[in-house]
Amino acid sequence: MKILRVLPFARQVLAETIKPGELVVDATAGNGVDTLFLAEHVGEKGHVYAFDIQKAALESTAERLGELTSRVSLILDSHDNVQKYVNKPISGAIFNLGYLPHGIDSSIVTKPETTIKAVHTLLGMLRKSGTIAISVYTGHDGGKTEGDALLDYVKTLHQADVNVAKYEVLNQQNNPPFLIALEKMRAFEEPRLTK
Ligand SMILES: C[S@@+](CC[C@H](N)C(=O)[O-])C[C@H]1O[C@@H](n2cnc3c(N)ncnc32)[C@H](O)[C@@H]1O
Repeated sequence: MKILRVLPFARQVLAETIKPGELVVDATAGNGVDTLFLAEHVGEKGHVYAFDIQKAALESTAERLGELTSRVSLILDSHDNVQKYVNKPISGAIFNLGYLPHGIDSSIVTKPETTIKAVHTLLGMLRKSGTIAISVYTGHDGGKTEGDALLDYVKTLHQADVNVAKYEVLNQQNNPPFLIALEKMRAFEEPRLTK
């Protein structure tokens, strides 16, 4: 096995889970790198719901998708409203937290409260054995606070409900992200918290 960096490892977690024809969520579309990856994996019969709060991000994602746009719903809304748009079980979800690379306003970032609410909701929507991969950045304003809040939350998920893992590359420069990977271990509508 190769020791992958965090972003390829996050995609690998999803690749191992998603089957053609399934529904998946990109919670932070950004420039669409993950959205394109998911659209390729779900195949012609599957579908990707891609969220972003910035129109420029969804435009950039649409451009990257090209003809695969037909497999994707581009949703200009916060990911914690996912249940307004998706009402069937999903097999996976990906988050890449922080700000839009090359965007005009790098102060528009993901926030602890909405990120945690979205993760909690998506855990309920996952099919059994579905996974969520969250790449967390700590180098920007608010990033460490968000990462710490998210770690505090995922550590409380009941071990019989969700397998929770953290992955990081220890010798990479310039504030590399770390990964939180979640696997749903049994069917439930809402995960149990242990405190
Ligand atoms: C690091 S970028 C994502 C990069 C993307 N995965 C890619 O492949 O290019 C983070 C994105 O999250 C978006 N974002 C911030 N808060 C959000 C929210 N509450 N709901 C959905 N997207 C949000 C930002 O606008 C930004 O585009």
